[in-house]
Amino acid sequence: MNDMAAPVATHAKATAIFTCVLAALAGLMFGLDIGVISGATQFVQRQFAVSDRVIEWIVSSMMLGAAVGALLAGWMSAALGRKRSLILGAVLFVAGSLLCGLAWSADTLIAARVVLGLAIGISTFTAPLYLAEVAPEYIRGAMISLYQLMITIGILVAFLSDTLLSYSGNWRWMLGVIAIPGALFLIGVLFLPDSPRWLMMRQRDQEALDVLRRLRGDPDVVRREASDIREQLRTPQRGWHLFLENGNFRRSVGLGVLLQLMQQFTGMNVVMYYAPRIFKDMGYDTQAQMWFTAIVGLTNVLATFIAIGLVDRWGRKPILYTGFAVMAIGLGVVGTMMGMKVTAHGAQLFTVGMVLVFIVGFAMSAGPLIWTLCSEVQPLKGRDFGIGCSTVTNWVANTIVGLTFLSLLASVGHTTTFYLYAAFNAIFIVLTFWLVPETKGVTLEQIERNLMSGKRLRDIGR
Ligand code: BGC
Repeated sequence: MNDMAAPVATHAKATAIFTCVLAALAGLMFGLDIGVISGATQFVQRQFAVSDRVIEWIVSSMMLGAAVGALLAGWMSAALGRKRSLILGAVLFVAGSLLCGLAWSADTLIAARVVLGLAIGISTFTAPLYLAEVAPEYIRGAMISLYQLMITIGILVAFLSDTLLSYSGNWRWMLGVIAIPGALFLIGVLFLPDSPRWLMMRQRDQEALDVLRRLRGDPDVVRREASDIREQLRTPQRGWHLFLENGNFRRSVGLGVLLQLMQQFTGMNVVMYYAPRIFKDMGYDTQAQMWFTAIVGLTNVLATFIAIGLVDRWGRKPILYTGFAVMAIGLGVVGTMMGMKVTAHGAQLFTVGMVLVFIVGFAMSAGPLIWTLCSEVQPLKGRDFGIGCSTVTNWVANTIVGLTFLSLLASVGHTTTFYLYAAFNAIFIVLTFWLVPETKGVTLEQIERNLMSGKRLRDIGR
């Protein structure tokens, strides 16, 4: 690089990083919306005098909206482009949050949560896609981890904000205040460049080159990347056809779906959505419930660093085994302790500690890794379709978990409910051994070759 190019490259680096940070804010919005409901439900329940069943719907209608949003997003991000999809997502974030804060009945709250869900479904599909397309090679891995980290930070911030607002019990502020980061996100997204890959898909090569020049600076890099994209676009996305005609592709789609079912049936979101309720049933008052929930959020953020640090050293499978085992033990002990209805201070704190152990198990493993694996195992031609199927599965399973927890508590009690999720985690250790490939240090091309040549799923990373 000559001397003249240096300031340009520095500027380009700053632009690229800014672009990625902004897109990762989508992760933050995602987290805020997951986290915000747990602290609000008890106050909502008091105000509208509704049953646990209605509360389950208020929690889960958002995930149902997200499933629909994710279904639409595949089409939308191709037809309208990534940037416009993100703008639409951001507008729906703001609108949904305001509507939640203003809801005048349980039904309107459920409807407002569906709007929020659409926002999440659209942005959680589009943001990682956009990130992967604009991040320069050397920060791409870090950017994808940043996205998961932002989700957990969003959850933590929502837990903290709920905790502070719980003193006044003002659930409208809890839910409505999310419109502020939503508006900031919207402003940020308006300044994003269009994805160069999408521009080239639309034959707008000149604009794509302009964006690449702004993002990368170095003309050699721009030229190389443009020709790489052109090369990739020669492989058309024909997921549905491939699914119908190719049994090997059906196996990788099935694996992606299974992986997301495993992530959700760990029971993580039982804690994300109902932590204050769980702590209440242990015998804690409102303030203690809220602060413990905030500690749950902090633990989730911190333990995500374990995954980021280990993923390329230990590999995926050892981390998953460890995580599922830790989760099974954590939930098993929580179930036992809650069954014993312990009242001694120390024993109660121990139970809270085991909830935190469970959170560590998830955040260090299935939280980030399942998303990574889901994008690694799909062949290029069917990647959009494959990831679309697994993402929608995430939301549908997420809905089921959210929609059944309180009913399970009411019908079979705490111990059996937590044992059930502990048993799922134990089964997932076996499924990981049996079906999940180790993808550490293997190129995506090699994984694809192995898959398509009919190797066993667990061997496609070799
Ligand atoms: C999961 C979410 C979960 C979050 C918790 C994500 O990877 O998909 O369902 O709420 O992690 O940190």
